[in-house]
Amino acid sequence: MMNPVSALIDALESLKNQGQRTIALSAENLTFLKNGPKGTDRENNQNIHDGHVWKEIFGIQKGKQSASMLDFEGEKPMKLNDFSCKLMPVSQKIFTNKREHWEDLRQRVLNSEDLKKHVHPGKQLVFGVGNLDAKIFFCGEAPGADEEVQGIPFVGRAGQLLTKIIVAMGLSREEVYIGNIMNWRPEMDTPTGNRPPTQEEMQFCLPHLVEQLEIVRPEAIVALGATAVSGLLGYDKSRKMSSVRGKWHEFCGVPLMITFHPSYLLRNGTNKMKRIVWEDMLNVMEKVAMPISEKQRKYFLEN
Ligand code: URA
Repeated sequence: MMNPVSALIDALESLKNQGQRTIALSAENLTFLKNGPKGTDRENNQNIHDGHVWKEIFGIQKGKQSASMLDFEGEKPMKLNDFSCKLMPVSQKIFTNKREHWEDLRQRVLNSEDLKKHVHPGKQLVFGVGNLDAKIFFCGEAPGADEEVQGIPFVGRAGQLLTKIIVAMGLSREEVYIGNIMNWRPEMDTPTGNRPPTQEEMQFCLPHLVEQLEIVRPEAIVALGATAVSGLLGYDKSRKMSSVRGKWHEFCGVPLMITFHPSYLLRNGTNKMKRIVWEDMLNVMEKVAMPISEKQRKYFLEN
């Protein structure tokens, strides 16, 4: 006879295959899932990992394949593309929809004392914005001066250019998702100017971005600039933007396009450079099966 844990996994896998992403659980069943089967299926070395309840229910994409809905990982930390991901204290709640999960995560980030201590006096932490069903997820590096005032990513000069790019693609900011690896503007001794976040700072914040990706589950991620790339894929001294830009990579199983940061375009705004970034966007539009007009295909071709 099939053991109850295997039967439960089969039932959940079947729901998942039908497209269901969440399930409602009573408090009693949740307690059973967390405590009941733990250690009972030694034969298969299966174990339900306390504290990762939502992860087990939602599943998580690892490498190319998405892992099973219930992820029996014993006590090992979750691994994402060899990037050991320190998860934030996760909510023990089971979310019935994306918005609920996103709002819970947003509150966890914005109310985190560990994060708030890095924020300049009178300024704000910055969390992602946009459509939770977006096909395209734009990922920047860190908030700047305007973003930490408004608490919204990409609202300064670079952000306005990003908005123009999104509009040129035939979309609005509300139709895509926009986030940063960092949730605060990297601290500086001087009141003006920005510095890129360190690798350590980005690794600290990365789990918050990963959880946003898990909620949105976009069809493509666009990494804006070399720092965002290092934050997502890890620092690699030998990596050159010239060789990774414009090509498809992967992050947590999601296709990842690398392009220049809009602030780079602000400094090097030649038509040639605009066309390079635009071709990356055409590539992204094709990947997510967006219609592309003849006019759009020709943007920035004429001098
Ligand atoms: N640059 C970024 O990478 N992110 C922002 O939100 C603004 C500027």
